Amino acid sequence: MATSGRPQLPPPQAGLTSANRRVTIREVAYLAQVSLGTVSNVLNNPGVVAEPTRRRVLDAIEETGFVRSTAAHQLRVGKSRTVGVVLLDISNPFFAEMVRGAEGVLRDKGYVLMVCSTDESVERERRYLRVLEEHRVDGLLITPVEHDLCEIARLAARGVPTVLLDRDSGERELCSATVDDVRGGELAAGHLFELGHDNIAFVNGPSSIRQCADRHEGAVRAQRRARRRRPTTLREIMVNALSVEQGEKAVGALLSLTPRPSAVMCANDLIALGILKRLTEAGVAVPQDMAVVGYDDVSFASMLSPPLTSVRQPKYELGAIAAELLLEEALGANHKHRSVRFEPELVVRASSGPSVRPGASRR
Ligand code: RIB
Repeated sequence: MATSGRPQLPPPQAGLTSANRRVTIREVAYLAQVSLGTVSNVLNNPGVVAEPTRRRVLDAIEETGFVRSTAAHQLRVGKSRTVGVVLLDISNPFFAEMVRGAEGVLRDKGYVLMVCSTDESVERERRYLRVLEEHRVDGLLITPVEHDLCEIARLAARGVPTVLLDRDSGERELCSATVDDVRGGELAAGHLFELGHDNIAFVNGPSSIRQCADRHEGAVRAQRRARRRRPTTLREIMVNALSVEQGEKAVGALLSLTPRPSAVMCANDLIALGILKRLTEAGVAVPQDMAVVGYDDVSFASMLSPPLTSVRQPKYELGAIAAELLLEEALGANHKHRSVRFEPELVVRASSGPSVRPGASRR
């Protein structure tokens, strides 16, 4: 029955009410008494539609509760207003904070994020790259698992704007946002040597993870400098993932080293958390018996007992600048790829202190 002079919507499909079915663009056109093309113009190019007609269509959209189908929209305009974010481990607060920085920039421009965690798996990374390309994402932020960036470079060459997060681009034509991890490793180990520790351990991830390789290079630099003044040792204990569990497992090897180190630096704060937990259970006093230094300075670092000395990475800023670089590339003309590098900062707390063991040199 017609009401208030306006036609009723076409009867809904049998068994479906408007509450549990997607209202179609055809129903909006029917209600507004315009063509499908006019409704499409109101949605995609409103400037070409006369005001009274545009108002009628918008009223029909509001009355029916019509929501644009992103899939249909993607197909029509080839744009998704979505950015793929591929990270090593989304459960690591470091990456979560970095995503918040990127999201803060992209949300204001109307983009949503599709966040994927590779858990340091090359196969999973490749699968996510395929899925995100199929979804026609507008851009990609990625912390790569692989040293070799050729898959990512190929994706970028196929027209997907791509920025490396927490990884430099090397000779590849890609934008990147990174922190100087060599300097970060040097700060962590240098701090311990300067406190008088002569024999330190480094619980590190596999050198296939670029961040771990760079931190180790920095620690070796610090040891070479310390060795000019006195004999020092730096021994690396490898773990296969940068997690709390792997930190706990590493304590057995750490306490079995002879002579036992008086200090340990960790590839990240999750490893440091696992080590602190297990050292406490083993009755090893921190820092008196074993000084501990982490890396990232995530939110919980200052809340641990004792509060953790760590190398602070500007996590939020890293994500935000990577998103800015992506928007420059996706929206700007004549974009020139560039790399932004931040400096790490040592944050000293109670978990590292002078070596109080006999035989350790004092400064
Ligand atoms: O995921 C490995 C580590 O690399 C993180 O903890 C963070 O330090 C990143 O740089």
